Amino acid sequence: MPMALTCFILTPNLKERVKTMIDLPLRLRRLRRTENLRRLIRETELQTNDFIYPLFVKEGLDKRQAISSMPGQFQLCLGDLKQEVKEIESLGIPAVIVFGIPQNKDERGSESFHPHGIVQQAIREIKKHSQTLLVISDICFCEYTDHGHCGMLQGKEVDNDGTLELLGKQAVAHAEAGADILAPSGMMDGMVQAIRTALDKSNFSHLPILSYAVKYASCFYGPFRDAAEGTPQFGDRKGYQMDPANGQEALREAMLDMREGADMLMVKPAMNYLDIIYRVKQQNPSIPLCAYQVSGEYSMIKNAASHGLLDEEQAMFESLTAIKRAGSDFIITYFAKEVCKGILQAHP
Ligand code: PBG
Repeated sequence: MPMALTCFILTPNLKERVKTMIDLPLRLRRLRRTENLRRLIRETELQTNDFIYPLFVKEGLDKRQAISSMPGQFQLCLGDLKQEVKEIESLGIPAVIVFGIPQNKDERGSESFHPHGIVQQAIREIKKHSQTLLVISDICFCEYTDHGHCGMLQGKEVDNDGTLELLGKQAVAHAEAGADILAPSGMMDGMVQAIRTALDKSNFSHLPILSYAVKYASCFYGPFRDAAEGTPQFGDRKGYQMDPANGQEALREAMLDMREGADMLMVKPAMNYLDIIYRVKQQNPSIPLCAYQVSGEYSMIKNAASHGLLDEEQAMFESLTAIKRAGSDFIITYFAKEVCKGILQAHP
């Protein structure tokens, strides 16, 4: 008798497997028969606690303006914030992330650290209407510079170390306005350490940093650049944001930012990078991990749904559930209000 066949017959494990295949005692469909059975064994459940809603506040507007590339999203004026805050709180959303769009942009993005810059005004206005809603501020320069890059230029290059000093200044200005969490998104080397040092020197050692540690040079930010008006006037961001082809490098980025003192990490975008979310979480299970479902992910679903290609509500829940299942603890998404409405309807 040939060797392989002898093993097949003699191994008890294999015997059992063959028997299982014949009798089918294990039928996984038994646990999928009714909605309550499915609820009982569900491994991932979205909660209103999981979401952060992005707000765009533009200087010089007197009423909200629809963002054409992002159906259902608006550039807001300061006067809109009271109503927004009420709605966001009533939906149980714990945090917002604020992006400011100034009227005047310059080479150094000075509106980002001016005490009366639009983002500082927006933070103060939100805090006036709620003490408890967490305000995260995006610390970057692309919305504030006339060239649209995420830092200071030296020739045609973004000057890393020159930018660090101004990042610290910007973070302190946002903290003074009342920001609860600072979220550096410019992918400068050393940005977390520079911001931590600047905050600590200015008596803000209690404020956490949520680092956009793993941010890819993605075309899925396309619609956001309309919303925040921060398109680079020349070149691209590949010299500082990560190459979508790289996975191991994400683990180095995460490790470095933790060492520099990041309190929470972020992976961005989300849907094309579920493997990265999974790997960063597996490598660093103890640090809270955020994922950003970016503008392009949102607009794709919205547009496909408006053309009748897929069900919007289901696509929203499925995409967000997948992002959480991959390992993120919370999610920044333009769907935050809609998904929380859906959650509250299902579990009033
Ligand atoms: C940089 C920043 C960007 C996004 C968030 N913060 C743009 C970029 O890096 O090009 C993109 C978010 C989105 O697409 O929803 N300030």
